[in-house]
Amino acid sequence: MACGRCAVDREFLVTKKRPDYEGAPSPLRLVDLFAGGGGLTVGVAEAARRLGRGTEVALAVENDGRAADIYGLNFPRANLVRSSVEALFDGELTAPVTASERSIALAVGEVDVLVAGPPCQGHSNLNNHTRRQDPRNALYLRAVRAVEVLRPTLVVIENVPTVRHDKGGVVESATQVLKAAGYSVASDVFRLVEFGVPQRRRRHMLLASMDDRIDPSVMGRLGSTCDDHTERSVRWAIEDLVDQTTESGPDAASKPAPVNLERMQWLIDQDEYDLPNPMRPKCHHGSHSYTSMYGRLRWDAPAQTITTGFGCMGQGRFVHPAQPRTLTPHEAARLQTLPDFFDLDTRKGRGVWATVIGNAVPPLFIVHLLAPLLSALPSPAVPEAQLVDLTHEPPVPLALVGDSTS
Ligand SMILES: C[S@@+](CC[C@H](N)C(=O)[O-])C[C@H]1O[C@@H](n2cnc3c(N)ncnc32)[C@H](O)[C@@H]1O
Repeated sequence: MACGRCAVDREFLVTKKRPDYEGAPSPLRLVDLFAGGGGLTVGVAEAARRLGRGTEVALAVENDGRAADIYGLNFPRANLVRSSVEALFDGELTAPVTASERSIALAVGEVDVLVAGPPCQGHSNLNNHTRRQDPRNALYLRAVRAVEVLRPTLVVIENVPTVRHDKGGVVESATQVLKAAGYSVASDVFRLVEFGVPQRRRRHMLLASMDDRIDPSVMGRLGSTCDDHTERSVRWAIEDLVDQTTESGPDAASKPAPVNLERMQWLIDQDEYDLPNPMRPKCHHGSHSYTSMYGRLRWDAPAQTITTGFGCMGQGRFVHPAQPRTLTPHEAARLQTLPDFFDLDTRKGRGVWATVIGNAVPPLFIVHLLAPLLSALPSPAVPEAQLVDLTHEPPVPLALVGDSTS
């Protein structure tokens, strides 16, 4: 492969052997709140590995038992707590720490990086406006409370772009409280395709640092576009899996209804990407803005946002570029840049896989966002040969982009 950066990332994506994230020296001490199956943790651990450092998960909190099972399988040495975040961090913002918070802080100890991906349904444009007042939005501020209690060096809170329009002003409140707690803070919306993710996903990121060597405002100038191309494609991520489908497990596509099979076959036979209105359900017969639904992916373009609905053609552009079927869980995981060594737990079923994969923060996004920032921290003496080349193009400022659905 011509591009060195793509080769390193592709190797990460397809390797079946999990790197020894825990064994490397000078481990970063990580806390992951709303941890899901661990997409964010994989990203931080891989960023640390590329800097020659290990990762120790001092605390991961997830209240869905099935997602927590998958997290535990992938990070067996993590201090994984199957609980709600608000049960652990139960004090009011800016108030003295509670008894529960004190015992957690003592148990967890020093924290280098705290990441959080609070549930985002309440902010999403896919939902109506009243849901921007969803109580789940308050969970965003529970992550901020955890910062007050644990005092990590670096904080990363991920969410959908529409979080900026939350009626309760969670981003503004979070920024205010974190600044009052001594952090420098910056937030922005990013196109993940600029960070090596073959997908048109956009995300809001809030970064806060209490170390002068890490300036969160530089994150707007980071990115990982390659020398001779700016976007990775569906082909880059999944072409090698085209003949790997099976009857069951993560390499099996979902069984479509006969009418959907006909629609998919038509797209392939006619070499079309959008399904014409007369072939859609009646509610799409007039004018509508759901062009991508029932659509087919293009080999040579990034995928649309991979959601939990990737197994259903009516939920987005999820038809395979060359075959009359939707994406398999394995392919969806690749497009999310969840590597092949990520264990989806074959005992679990499609519903759990779809949730964990669709909810994950793409690890390569986190690698390319955080590695340059983390490299500012003192690191252990690592033989140069073990370090991954992190040189970036001259920084290109990323424009703040508009809202999108999740
Ligand atoms: C957007 S997903 C996080 C994905 C994760 N960061 C990743 O990269 O894989 C949000 C997760 O928060 C969990 N969750 C929702 N409410 C919670 C709560 N109150 N306490 C703990 N976890 C919660 C959900 O079960 C879900 O797995």
